[in-house]
Amino acid sequence: MQQFAQTGTASGKTKDPIDTSDSPTAKKQKMADDKGHVLVIMGASGDLAKKSIYPALWELYKTSKLPPNLHIIGFARSTLTVKDLRERSSDFLKLESTDKGSDESEKFRKFWSLQSYIPGSYDDIKKAKPLTDAFEEIEKKYKECDRTFYVALPPEVYKSVTELIKKNWMAKKGRTKIALEKPFGTDLESSDELDDHLKERFRDEEIVRIDHYLCLEMVQAILALRFTNRLFLNTWNNKHIASVLITFKEDFGTYGRSGYFEKAGIIRDVMQNHLMQILSLVAMEKPESSSDIDLRKEKARLIRAIRPVVNDDIVLGQYVGNELSQTEDKKRGYKDDEKVPNDSKTPTFATIAFHIDNDRWEGVPFIMRCGKATNEVKDEIRFQFKGINPAMGRLFKNEPIERNELVIQLKPKEKIALRITGKHPGMGMELENTELDLNYASKYSKESLTGPYERLLLSVINDSENSHYVGREELRYSWKLFTPILQMVEARKPIQYTFGSLGPKEADVLCAKHKFYLSTAYPW
Ligand code: BG6
Repeated sequence: MQQFAQTGTASGKTKDPIDTSDSPTAKKQKMADDKGHVLVIMGASGDLAKKSIYPALWELYKTSKLPPNLHIIGFARSTLTVKDLRERSSDFLKLESTDKGSDESEKFRKFWSLQSYIPGSYDDIKKAKPLTDAFEEIEKKYKECDRTFYVALPPEVYKSVTELIKKNWMAKKGRTKIALEKPFGTDLESSDELDDHLKERFRDEEIVRIDHYLCLEMVQAILALRFTNRLFLNTWNNKHIASVLITFKEDFGTYGRSGYFEKAGIIRDVMQNHLMQILSLVAMEKPESSSDIDLRKEKARLIRAIRPVVNDDIVLGQYVGNELSQTEDKKRGYKDDEKVPNDSKTPTFATIAFHIDNDRWEGVPFIMRCGKATNEVKDEIRFQFKGINPAMGRLFKNEPIERNELVIQLKPKEKIALRITGKHPGMGMELENTELDLNYASKYSKESLTGPYERLLLSVINDSENSHYVGREELRYSWKLFTPILQMVEARKPIQYTFGSLGPKEADVLCAKHKFYLSTAYPW
């Protein structure tokens, strides 16, 4: 049932009593009252909406960060109600107190009472007409009104849905913005095709390409760390760094998403986008300014300088069930999913070594390693520094001196650590590999640690912080690099690894071949 005709808005703020004076505050208030904003979540019934978008909107609402006069409309094909949306999201919504009558539960009730949902179609305007009516109804109240479409849909419908937007739903009294989530195409050709389709219909500023990893706290922290510390400014090169490992691991499989995953595979799912964005930020030259244009220019330049990958530098894996596991999920291998064909060669794990052909990084491998159904959730970047001259080490005979490592951990904890060698306290002169550890959860307040979708949604709604988005040029270079890789691995049979393990051993061998030594001092 159509439920858009809500009069409330989603700012979470209580309006000041109307000030009738001519004061600047009153004028400002009047201007704000005249301006509305409609956010349409296309694909409101899907996984992304339930796990990330609604929970992030709730956080923003709870903390009164949403702009005034924001109307949120969920849109999808299924016949659902707002109550269904709330129930679907319930496992992912953070609530400190569920006590009826508490401030939070009252806010929570209000948040959902302000939501609306419209069932429709992604390619048939007749079925999608109720959304047109909803815009008209809402916009009657405002002099100006922006429209933002957050497209949380599979890429196959990007063209039809954007066509529908162009023909029917461009804002009449304000700006239109369309946020598209990765993946943008499946290879260079399809990505170019999508790009041409969008260019013919929209202005550059009307489209934003989302990679939510760019909004992770620790990904945002990379630039500050790199460019404000002499310690790192002077050592961020092949004189000091031996090898870099970018890891993405999850302890759950693809169950429930295998329809999508079977076509995508782990390389398209996370490596070509999330990990490549990380690599470009850690390896690029210093941009001329912190503007989004300069940042994207440097990222694109860096990706362009990556050498084509050779077959020997790629290890692929696919998980099988762990019969010994106590949990049913882990007993199920990738191919045990009914949507996955028995002869599937889709990799759920990949390790690839890249080389950057520029002066700074000549001889420094950048290894990306990603896997589903491994032993744990962990995303991190590890810079392994060169070892010290053995002659210096002689001072401490027979003691192991490990390489220094700088670790930027994105998940599960946000932290920056520097692995160093120190003296173990006590009478003797024993060396010890230890860590200087900046753990964000202990150093900073919970409120200051913002989730990626909160940051992302706010920047899309407020039309700010364009540096969170992926540029067209860097996207093209990334597909130029990955398309031959994907073609090369298509025929390859991935190595089996057990659900809950570290992935194929061959990946460790590849790391060692590229001068990254997995230390035994801590778990991988
Ligand atoms: C998505 C991938 O882009 O990122 C998923 O499609 C992956 O496979 C996810 O699980 C990881 O990000 P997050 O924020 O959900 O942990």
